[in-house]
Amino acid sequence: MSSQSEYSAEYAKIQDAQDPLRHLRDEFIIPTRADLKRKTLAAHSSTASEPSTYLCGNSLGLQPRLTSKYLNSYLSAWATKGVLGHFTEIEDSPLAPWLHVDDDVMEPMAKIVGAKREEVAVMQTLTANLHLLMCSFYRPTKDRWKVLIEGKAFPSDHYAVESQVQHHDLDPASAMVLIEPPDPSSPLLSTSHILATIDEHASETALLLLPGIQFYTGQFFDMKTITAHAHERGIVVGWDLAHAVGNVPLQLHDWNVDFAAWCNYKYMNCGPGAIGGLFVHEKHSGVSAGQENATTDGKTPSYRPRLSGWWGNDKSSRFRMENRFVPIPGAGGFQLSNPSVADLAAVRASLDTHAKTTMLDLRSKSVKLTAHLQRLLLEHGPKERCYEIITPLDPEERGAQLSLKLREGLLESVMEHLEEEGVVVDERRPDVIRVAPAPLYNNYSDVLRFVQVFRAACERATRGGGAETNSVMVNGGREEKGWGDVK
Ligand SMILES: Cc1ncc(COP(=O)(O)O)c(C=O)c1O
Repeated sequence: MSSQSEYSAEYAKIQDAQDPLRHLRDEFIIPTRADLKRKTLAAHSSTASEPSTYLCGNSLGLQPRLTSKYLNSYLSAWATKGVLGHFTEIEDSPLAPWLHVDDDVMEPMAKIVGAKREEVAVMQTLTANLHLLMCSFYRPTKDRWKVLIEGKAFPSDHYAVESQVQHHDLDPASAMVLIEPPDPSSPLLSTSHILATIDEHASETALLLLPGIQFYTGQFFDMKTITAHAHERGIVVGWDLAHAVGNVPLQLHDWNVDFAAWCNYKYMNCGPGAIGGLFVHEKHSGVSAGQENATTDGKTPSYRPRLSGWWGNDKSSRFRMENRFVPIPGAGGFQLSNPSVADLAAVRASLDTHAKTTMLDLRSKSVKLTAHLQRLLLEHGPKERCYEIITPLDPEERGAQLSLKLREGLLESVMEHLEEEGVVVDERRPDVIRVAPAPLYNNYSDVLRFVQVFRAACERATRGGGAETNSVMVNGGREEKGWGDVK
């Protein structure tokens, strides 16, 4: 058992002072408690009020300080160059000419997801990208037509798959296989259960679409094993990385993932609704010159079918307006439209901030910080049994998030108290709060303050009822711990 001193401001301060990534916190604007309460926009002031305790990077990451600088450069370039901004190299701008801003973010983005530069594109939004990718990768036949997806998939993924299935005149009731937890008392899906479900439907399945990290439970799936297992059975594998990108190290190329898509507003800190990203393995995105074709007056290139747009066309012929689509080899060939430069300015600002560390160093801090949160909750959290941790307790099976399922009826009061105290987490009604110490800007002091305020919030919410058992439940109550029993 850890010492009582872990639950102290002194301990947190010492840990924060020793944190090799502590300087990264200063790269972000942390809203103050007064900022959160105010109903007007006001100049950010870090001295007027204490910073809030922001543990919500799983929903919306904080703003890097570079973002306003980069957005201002974009606005100045637009103001001073007009259309010439597309082509002009501006010496004192951090941004590439607009024609190349998409290429400019490929390399750092590829580093974050473990891909080759040409395997990523920053474009569109997550759900739109899932659709574009499924148009190319979900090609049902009379033998293989099913899509495997979790029963509790994020609704947008469920709707996207459902509508893709319907688009092919198939019935979702038989074409969508929903992977449900085998044990109703726990929402977790073990790797063995996923593999067994794949086996059960293997010969009829065209596509497996799963999240790298599950949005509700925070469970980090074994992407490498699951991908390899499905591939051995002839199934195409796609991943939704909304909660994984910038959170856990990924090796999309080496894991042989077919395709993936993500948003950039959570652990990537690019702002609400920011442009998303996608990955297409190089084995699927080649373009061969093809045969001479008399009717089109040139060669007909051969490439994987897709929904196309001019921005996916080879750059050397993009502006020739020939109406003969020759895709850029790689994920860039899946682009449709010229991208929003404002969005890409925010992406570049975030990537330049991320480049001050590595995913491995972030992960190393993240594992410690989330384990610390778990330990403080179990050993010093609310005394009355009023919540359970539904996220896996093994750090290898989760990212930066712990999901806490509150006893029925407590959510509103607990959230109210957290809000009053300037603690920002996110709620999933009816009874779950998700707490995410993001290693780029959160620290031990944030975690301590959350546990202190959460404990008071639970005590207030439960006051007057129930026996004091000094314990919490873990993962569906299978592993109950008494107060002080935790190792
Ligand atoms: C797992 C997951 N999938 C899909 C989405 C939808 O993203 P978007 O609105 O960017 O399409 C989200 C949004 O939070 C998500 O968390």
